[in-house]
Amino acid sequence: LRHLTTLEHLPRASIERLLDRAIALRDACAHGTRKLDTLAGRTVLNLFFEPSTRTRTSFELAARRLGADVINFDIGFSSTAKGEALYDTLHTLEAMHLDAIVVRHKVSGTPEELVRHAMSGVSVVNAGDGNRAHPTQGLLDALTIRQHRPDFENLVVTICGDIRHSRVARSDVHALSAMGVGEIRFCGPAALLPEASEFPQCRYTEDFDSAIEGADVAIMLRLQKERMAATDLPDEGAYFRHYGLDARRLARAAKGCLVMHPGPLNRGIEIANEVADGAQSRILEQVANGVFVRMAVLAELLAR
Ligand code: CP
Repeated sequence: LRHLTTLEHLPRASIERLLDRAIALRDACAHGTRKLDTLAGRTVLNLFFEPSTRTRTSFELAARRLGADVINFDIGFSSTAKGEALYDTLHTLEAMHLDAIVVRHKVSGTPEELVRHAMSGVSVVNAGDGNRAHPTQGLLDALTIRQHRPDFENLVVTICGDIRHSRVARSDVHALSAMGVGEIRFCGPAALLPEASEFPQCRYTEDFDSAIEGADVAIMLRLQKERMAATDLPDEGAYFRHYGLDARRLARAAKGCLVMHPGPLNRGIEIANEVADGAQSRILEQVANGVFVRMAVLAELLAR
């Protein structure tokens, strides 16, 4: 791999290799207590045009644990605010000899645009573009599931919430389909489901009680208010009654159902405290795995 912009069409063997590498790097760095020199002398730039807590921090940690230098580009204090075009920003930063640019942008397709316009040998890693892809989230979700349920072909995975605007859902479906997962169910209000033609392999429903029935994995998604018109925002109380995951609904799922959420959580809207903080929650494991998966991706793209 030279760039990672999407998981679409990435074969199972490539995904498995990245997940195996994540585990090997986790062990080699002893969960972050030992620094490696895999990327010594290499420079990674975090270029985030949208807010982030988990992805940006874990890419920084991942790069540092591999021995790379890291620059966190501060958009608010950059010349973007003076009207500099994305490509001029890209070429300016490339002139400083970067090895990788980790980019998040609200416009779908921005990572591919950077790949097309790059003038150096810089690698581009997508940290989330619009509603299109969040490949490292797809990988860390696959890793989290694999650690508990490696029998992907037997699994029913329910993804519930604002799927229409979700790059996480799209990358999860790409990863889980490649891994041969048994069944993927999409659940949410009709206005927040994608077109049926986009994911013919998934079952669509507006009824959460039936969608969660017998599920082995429940991936809950927040309402992406920043991608909706104010007039389209659902009433949050009604939304929780229909699509919130609480203990009563979780009891309908298969025994030991893994509860996942990419974060940030909107408690009391898509997930109840009792479930987010409950014994079946894997949410903080997802966060921890994010560092190791991002180490694997940076090592795969940059290691000589
Ligand atoms: N899951 C995720 O992308 O979280 P952040 O927006 O905090 O990076």
